[in-house]
Amino acid sequence: MWVQDHFKPRPTDIFLASFPKSGTTWLKALIFATVNRTRYGFADHPLLTTGPHDCFPFLDAHLQEKDRSRFDLDRFPSPRLLSIHIPYILLPNSMTDHQSCRFVYICRDPKDVLVSKWLFLNKLRPKDLPPISLEEAFELFCQGISHYGPFWDHVLGYWEGSLETPEKILFLKYEDLKKEPLVVVKRLGDFLGYPFSLEEESKGVVEEIVKLCSFENLSTLEVNKVSEQKFSKDTIIDNRHFFRKGKVGDWKTYLTTEMVERLDEITYEKLLGSGLVF
Ligand code: A3P
Repeated sequence: MWVQDHFKPRPTDIFLASFPKSGTTWLKALIFATVNRTRYGFADHPLLTTGPHDCFPFLDAHLQEKDRSRFDLDRFPSPRLLSIHIPYILLPNSMTDHQSCRFVYICRDPKDVLVSKWLFLNKLRPKDLPPISLEEAFELFCQGISHYGPFWDHVLGYWEGSLETPEKILFLKYEDLKKEPLVVVKRLGDFLGYPFSLEEESKGVVEEIVKLCSFENLSTLEVNKVSEQKFSKDTIIDNRHFFRKGKVGDWKTYLTTEMVERLDEITYEKLLGSGLVF
C-alpha cells in the first residue's frame, strides 16, 4: 500500500523482481556489477567486501523500517537499483506503465524454490520452535500459501508483463543463467541500456563479471561468510544463509516421487497456455 500510494519511480530505476529463493542474490550481484562496471575495478570491487543485499537494497523490506530517514529513496543516485518480491499485479501504474522504469525478473524451477525456501526458513526459525517438516512446507507451497502469494501467480504476472512490454521487463530463468551465464549477462547489459562494447568483450569483461558473481566466489568471501544483513530492525539475516548449494535440480535429494508428480502437475496446469515452461 505504501508503494502504491507514495513511491515515486524514476524512469531510470532498475528493479529486480523475484519470488523468494529464485536467485535474487545472484542477480543483485550481476546487475550491480554490470551497471557499475566502469566505476569499479575487479581487484577492489565493492562486491568483494559488501554483501549483494547491501549493494542492491530491497524496497519492500526497507519499508518495514519505521525510521524512513535511514532509507531515503529520494537521495539515492540514478539509476536506483531496487529489489522487490511484490507481485506484478500489486504494483502501481506509475511503475508498470510504458514510460517508466525497467524490471529484471528471475524465476526458477518451483521444486528447487520449494526446497531452497524450506531449508532457508528453517534456519531463520527461532530455536525454541520445532523445524517445519518438508511435508508441511510442501503442502503449504502447493496450496499457494507463501510469502508474496502463490509461486505460479507470481511468475505468471511478470511473464505476461514481459510478453506485453518486452522492452520493460526482462524475464530470466535461473537454469539458463547457470547454463549460459555469458549469453545471459550480455542480454542483461543490452536490456539495461549498458551494452558491452566489442572492446569490453574482447578484454573479457563479461567473463570477469560472471566470475566475480559466481556462487564459488561470492560464497567464500569473508563478508558473505561471517557478516549479517540488516533488512530492517526486526529482520536481520546471516549473509551465509543466502548461499547454500547454488545448484540446479537439488530437489532430487529431498522430494519423493509423489511430491515431484504433484508439483509438476500443478505447474503444468497453472502454466498451461501461457507459453512458459520449466
Ligand atoms: P539453493 O538453496 O538451492 O542453494 P535468493 O537469492 O532468491 O534468496 O535465492 C537463494 C538461492 O540462490 C540459493 O539456492 C542460493 O544458494 C542460490 N545462490 C545464491 N547466490 C548464487 C550465485 N552466485 N550463483 C548461483 N546461485 C546462487
